[in-house]
Amino acid sequence: MLVTLEACWLKTLIFASSISMLITYYGHSCFLIEVNGKKLLFDPFIRPNPKAAHIDFASIKADYILVSHGHEDHTADLVDLARQTNAMVICNWEIHQWVQNKGIIKTHSMNIGGHWIFDFGKVKCVNAVHSSSLPDGTYGGNPMGFLVEAPEGKFYYAGDTALHYDMKLIGDYKKMNFSFLPIGNNYTMGVDNAVIASEFIRCDTIIGMHFDTFDPIKIDHKEAMQKFEQAGKELHLMKIGETIEL
Ligand code: NI
Ligand code: MN
Repeated sequence: MLVTLEACWLKTLIFASSISMLITYYGHSCFLIEVNGKKLLFDPFIRPNPKAAHIDFASIKADYILVSHGHEDHTADLVDLARQTNAMVICNWEIHQWVQNKGIIKTHSMNIGGHWIFDFGKVKCVNAVHSSSLPDGTYGGNPMGFLVEAPEGKFYYAGDTALHYDMKLIGDYKKMNFSFLPIGNNYTMGVDNAVIASEFIRCDTIIGMHFDTFDPIKIDHKEAMQKFEQAGKELHLMKIGETIEL
């Protein structure tokens, strides 16, 4: 009996200490998150990004590629990476049609408000306030964000978005372990609004994205860190190529 209890306790300890996710940054809004033994890649824009020139594109592996919207700074490497990795592309209906037309048949189309259970966990598509057209001018549908729920935890990937009141729904919905928020301003919300967003979603650990890639979205790192700190939040500004565990 004692032995069994001890074994149970040990198992709980090991389980508790292993609850974390590996996050790798490929620049701009492109991240690879490993959950439940699967690699999830978001918004692939690597080769056209001079700041990500040191990333070995050919070695990137993914099981799923999630696409928030059609803009080139989120889809430039989508078709080639889908081909290279044989990953399933998760995106809205319009982007699904666009990639299918380019010969990528492993797709799962979704739209805002819907969720689907994949082998790694649950993906729910949420509102993003932005625009969405594909690099060749094709209509890209509506932009979205993703809520991902896996055994290791939950996270929110906001995509390109303004601060909006629907983010409060996420705060009411479930506790996110961490969230990816755009902070570069000009095309999306900036740092000040992202701090408010982190309050709306009630999330204390934020990973910044969509900053520094282009001149209009260059930010002051120290100031950004301070603003989140003053709000009692932690902001991660990852280096391109860096992997962290959260
Ligand atoms: Ni965009
Ligand atoms: Mn963008």
